[in-house]
Amino acid sequence: MQKKIAVIKGDGIGPEIVTEAVKVLDKIAAKFGHTFRYTELLMGGCSIDAYKEPLTEETIAVCMDSDAVLMGSIGGDTTTSPWYKLPAHLRPEAGLLALRKALGLFANLRPCVLYPELRAACTLREDISEKGFDMLIMRELTGGLYFGERSTKEIDGVMTAVDTLKYDENEIRRIAVKAFEVAMKRRKKVTSVDKANVLDSSRLWRKVVNEVAAEYPEVTLEHALVDSTAMQIVRNPSQFDVMVTENMFGDILSDEAAMVTGSLGMLPSASLNETKFGLYEPSGGSAPDIAGKNIANPIAAILSASMLLRYSFDLQEEADAIENAVKQVLAEGYRTGDIMSEGCKQVKCDEMGTLIAERI
Ligand code: IPM
Ligand code: MN
Repeated sequence: MQKKIAVIKGDGIGPEIVTEAVKVLDKIAAKFGHTFRYTELLMGGCSIDAYKEPLTEETIAVCMDSDAVLMGSIGGDTTTSPWYKLPAHLRPEAGLLALRKALGLFANLRPCVLYPELRAACTLREDISEKGFDMLIMRELTGGLYFGERSTKEIDGVMTAVDTLKYDENEIRRIAVKAFEVAMKRRKKVTSVDKANVLDSSRLWRKVVNEVAAEYPEVTLEHALVDSTAMQIVRNPSQFDVMVTENMFGDILSDEAAMVTGSLGMLPSASLNETKFGLYEPSGGSAPDIAGKNIANPIAAILSASMLLRYSFDLQEEADAIENAVKQVLAEGYRTGDIMSEGCKQVKCDEMGTLIAERI
């Protein structure tokens, strides 16, 4: 198979972890007889430094011309980096949001799995962590508060800021359909998360999700409020299978769910449109405090590459090979600093990448 992959390493730890993901993809290509052609692109802070804007037309065009996008992370320290002195629409995050929108990536899949080997790194009490969990957060990615109208202005002498949470029924329906489709391939349970006791957008969300659910009689649907869900994630995460929710709720809940797996450094994500095309990136951020030290955990990036093979290229065996190699390395006791526990062998970012590639 011949495929074109756009590679956006980005800022902070992005370049280090994506380098390891490409190392693993190269091993897959050699072993299974594929050819992956990579085009490196700038986006985020590094693009601001080079082109004075976080996302160029060129980057969008090359992504659109590729079969998939592999990304690291973007952004810097919001209190010290000069990028955050720029107007909001020229900051690193604006580039990522514009890219998601330009590529129509409305469905963000964030699997949160507690690997048995990493139970010691789990922040939950042992009686909770020993039950294990395997949930998939399906976050709506191109609507809601992130893309509604916003403004900051003086009204009657008082500075006033407005953000708008808007969803139409079509936006809700297409993400709900994705959630039910994915649930059919998993444990057939969907938890739809909203704030229907307060928000109109949530009441419409609930209505449309119920309509979609009628088409999937085998799937159990439950509705839950976002505040209560935040609590349930730390109380009893094993109850969740697929969780579907709007953009902002999904942003917050996915960091929470990722952390209880032991580390944000473990969690991949896939952002998909209606086609096979997707953008794959770790759920965690650019971690500027540890950038350039070769100590970041590349597993989230490596598992993102595995999701890329699975969802965009339909290469299930190859994707499994990566996941199994990750499990094997963890079972052998290798850990980066963020997931280190007693009796394990601590390795650097590049060593972890090499260990995983070797086991494919
Ligand atoms: C994420 C990130 C982004 C988001 C930021 C960097 C804009 O936190 O992918 O979760 O809020 O979507
Ligand atoms: Mn986030």
